[in-house]
Amino acid sequence: MNVVEIVFSPTGGTEKVAHIIGKQWSEKPAIIDLSDAKADFSKCKITEQDMVLVAMPSFGGRAPAVAISRLKQIAGNGAKCTLVCVYGNRAYEDTLVEMEDTAKECGFQVVAAIAAVAEHSIMPQYAAGRPDATDQKQLTDYANQIADKAGIVSAIPGNRPYKKAGGAGLVPKPDKSCVKCGACAETCPVHAIDPVNFTADSKACISCMRCMKQCPKNARKVNGMMVSVAALAIKKACSVRKENELFL
Ligand SMILES: Cc1cc2nc3c(=O)[nH]c(=O)nc-3n(C[C@H](O)[C@H](O)[C@H](O)COP(=O)(O)O)c2cc1C
Repeated sequence: MNVVEIVFSPTGGTEKVAHIIGKQWSEKPAIIDLSDAKADFSKCKITEQDMVLVAMPSFGGRAPAVAISRLKQIAGNGAKCTLVCVYGNRAYEDTLVEMEDTAKECGFQVVAAIAAVAEHSIMPQYAAGRPDATDQKQLTDYANQIADKAGIVSAIPGNRPYKKAGGAGLVPKPDKSCVKCGACAETCPVHAIDPVNFTADSKACISCMRCMKQCPKNARKVNGMMVSVAALAIKKACSVRKENELFL
């Protein structure tokens, strides 16, 4: 049995959570990186004996559209699959059911689902430092429960039809300290950044914040006023620590 982590993680929070779980099942899980804009996912080989983890962040209570369309290229071949949705302590709404529907369409057998919390990639004051030691312990325990389990998952929370997807509308721009190294354009999951002038195509940009995280000079910025307004709007919802959840 091989353990395979299929992960979309623009800024690394989802990846951290996925690795905590995957490492409980195998010393060296295979990784399929759904944020790689150059990969041909139809070439991924999954067999019925594999134990698969599909992990994505929640963007506006939905799974990121690009992650879903890339996942759809992978044939599940009846492999057991655990879904992991990672969110920034506001809410994950319909993310897990959308992932469930897609995984089933791919031919995976969904055995479990997890909603986990990681630092908010736009407003890092929310869920700062998570996953932390308490999360690590809890996620490890979930991984052990899933490994011992037989049969498909029962009920996963979320609504069908899913809530309307809406973009965050935050398009990072380079400032004067940009040294044109190209790291942003190279690693953008949707190739939205012009490799010559490093501006992002606002229609293609998914506001995932990867370019800001990758920039070695901290030269990419979003509109601070828009972020402050968004932070205020979700302050109440984010004020209480949300716990991780396991659905078996
Ligand atoms: C465009 C966008 C939308 C987001 N929407 C939500 C949301 O609806 N609810 C929430 O709790 N967190 C939300 N977040 C926070 C992310 O789900 C969270 O930070 C996640 O860990 C990011 O994953 P990553 O580090 O793998 O990129 C959003 C982040 C981004 C970039």
